[in-house]
Amino acid sequence: MTRTCPFVVGIACFAILGCVTVVQSQVTLEVTEGNSTCIKAELSASFSITYDTANGTRTVMVPLPGSAVVGVASSCGGDGRSPWLVALFGDGHALGLSFSSNDTLYSVANLTLQYNLSDVATFPDANSTDVVTVETTSVGMVARVNTTYRCISASSVIVGGATVTFSNVTMEAYMTGDDLSPDESVCTADQSFTTAPPPPPSTTTAAPAPVPTPPGTPNQGSYSVSNSNGTVCLLARMALQLNISYFSASQNKTIQEVVNLLPNQTTSSGSCDPTSATLVLTQGSATNLSFLFTLNTTSNRYHLTGLSVVAAWSDMTAPFNTSNSSLDYLRGSLGRSYMCISEQTLAVDQNFSLNTFQLQVQPFGITRGQFTQADECQLDQDNMLIPIVVGAALAGLVLIVLIAYLIGRKKSHAGYQTI
Ligand SMILES: *[C@@H]1O[C@H](CO)[C@@H](O)[C@H](O)[C@H]1NC(C)=O
Ligand SMILES: *[C@@H]1O[C@H](CO)[C@@H](O)[C@H](O)[C@H]1NC(C)=O
Ligand SMILES: *[C@@H]1O[C@H](CO)[C@@H](O)[C@H](O)[C@H]1NC(C)=O
Ligand SMILES: *[C@@H]1O[C@H](CO)[C@@H](O)[C@H](O)[C@H]1NC(C)=O
Ligand SMILES: *[C@@H]1O[C@H](CO)[C@@H](O)[C@H](O)[C@H]1NC(C)=O
Ligand SMILES: *[C@@H]1O[C@H](CO)[C@@H](O)[C@H](O)[C@H]1NC(C)=O
Ligand SMILES: *[C@@H]1O[C@H](CO)[C@@H](O)[C@H](O)[C@H]1NC(C)=O
Ligand SMILES: *[C@@H]1O[C@H](CO)[C@@H](O)[C@H](O)[C@H]1NC(C)=O
Ligand SMILES: *[C@@H]1O[C@H](CO)[C@@H](O)[C@H](O)[C@H]1NC(C)=O
Ligand SMILES: *[C@@H]1O[C@H](CO)[C@@H](O)[C@H](O)[C@H]1NC(C)=O
Ligand SMILES: *[C@@H]1O[C@H](CO)[C@@H](O)[C@H](O)[C@H]1NC(C)=O
Ligand SMILES: *[C@@H]1O[C@H](CO)[C@@H](O)[C@H](O)[C@H]1NC(C)=O
Repeated sequence: MTRTCPFVVGIACFAILGCVTVVQSQVTLEVTEGNSTCIKAELSASFSITYDTANGTRTVMVPLPGSAVVGVASSCGGDGRSPWLVALFGDGHALGLSFSSNDTLYSVANLTLQYNLSDVATFPDANSTDVVTVETTSVGMVARVNTTYRCISASSVIVGGATVTFSNVTMEAYMTGDDLSPDESVCTADQSFTTAPPPPPSTTTAAPAPVPTPPGTPNQGSYSVSNSNGTVCLLARMALQLNISYFSASQNKTIQEVVNLLPNQTTSSGSCDPTSATLVLTQGSATNLSFLFTLNTTSNRYHLTGLSVVAAWSDMTAPFNTSNSSLDYLRGSLGRSYMCISEQTLAVDQNFSLNTFQLQVQPFGITRGQFTQADECQLDQDNMLIPIVVGAALAGLVLIVLIAYLIGRKKSHAGYQTI
């Protein structure tokens, strides 16, 4: 009844350290009745869940583990019931997707998330032991009948106090064969903007085509994240430049825009856990950048694993939103900060990259609210090498000239003596 994919990534530290990893695994779930499959889903999902503790609220990130199985409540529907896919995972947690269809389209009619606050490994310090069930009918997954719904881009669904983020989704309900249909309904986030329909006229009343000009070097901002008890647990100072490719309403085509983040209009927030730390930068209501750092407790090294951006700029036909949670940038060692003065480009996907300048971050092991010694990036070390090499070359040149002069003087002395 259920199959799970082999590349399950470790959430072992869950049990041992009570820590949180957001490394996602691809999960395959199938609902069958008799000999035929009616729902098949291959997807990654993670849950951001906020719950109460005695000292206030906490937010945890819980991935849908590769060990998730299809629950017996799942059904292919019929007799007035809807097809329902229920994935069970961990200690009494569940994700349910119920489907509906008409002659042309099928969609996820409702999403249910159930989580068990008694699971202290996942919800440390929860002040309740309830099993919480939350439900929403705005899921936004729609496909044509007899096609596979595909959405590689990340998309989030808000349900109660939780957010479910899906990525790498291929899924079909009301299947007519045992395999996913080769015919696909691709979600809008995956569609290249060049094939997007022209924007509705109401949004084209914007100012005439502004030709994007390079914005120059951005200013450096200083950001920090504090624990619930007010202790600074993450520090960053950096100058950031967003490079986004999007469909421009005023120009009626896809454009590449490079925009500096303005530190004096940007606020920071986030959270710190023993092995993961999040920094969220928000500039007004238009730009929102999240950085996720994780700590490997085996190697005692950290790195930037996840970057996500939501941008709602005036010239966009729809808010731009993308994320990548399998990055490997800004690698530093525990107890030290990471520094890179040189410009670095953090590529997130084909439509978004982030340029960083004058960067220093420390997501773990802050003492007394200050940066500790820095691990310098290779680029800076190379840049440092240039003056050294040039200096050495100049010194060599001076030496050669000096020797030549001395030899020349000796020769001319000898010359005078022979006269
Ligand atoms: C399932 O398949 C087996 C053998 O392939 C067949 O004997 C059985 O009748 C089938 N059951 C149904 C409900 O189709
Ligand atoms: C919560 O508060 C209690 C008492 O006020 C304190 O002992 C405990 O350490 C706090 N827990 C956290 C996680 O801050
Ligand atoms: C848990 O804490 C929240 C606020 O921190 C409070 O509103 C709620 O009543 C508490 N629940 C229990 C079961 O103590
Ligand atoms: C919730 O978790 C507790 C402790 O981990 C477990 O004993 C209980 O059976 C779980 N509840 C459900 C509904 O699975
Ligand atoms: C959501 O779907 C489930 C399963 O089909 C159903 O039991 C539940 O009543 C649905 N909820 C709503 C609000 O439609
Ligand atoms: C099917 O449902 C969609 C939206 O739910 C609607 O736009 C469409 O007109 C419906 N088609 C038919 C044939 O009822
Ligand atoms: C979907 O496929 C089934 C079986 O192949 C067929 O009977 C049905 O008409 C198809 N529906 C659409 C909308 O193409
Ligand atoms: C604040 O909390 C952190 C962990 O959450 C702890 O390491 C630190 O000692 C606490 N500081 C104070 C002043 O309570
Ligand atoms: C922005 O991204 C595009 C495509 O990746 C690249 O060609 C361009 O050089 C980038 N611009 C800057 C200023 O980084
Ligand atoms: C946008 O461009 C497309 C093709 O390039 C054209 O068909 C359409 O009319 C244009 N729309 C506007 C509002 O200019
Ligand atoms: C932010 O800084 C820019 C340049 O550094 C300045 O032009 C602008 O007035 C500042 N805005 C605010 C709200 O302080
Ligand atoms: C942590 O580091 C060790 C040693 O470098 C490595 O073998 C392991 O795969 C890393 N774990 C993760 C989750 O990256």
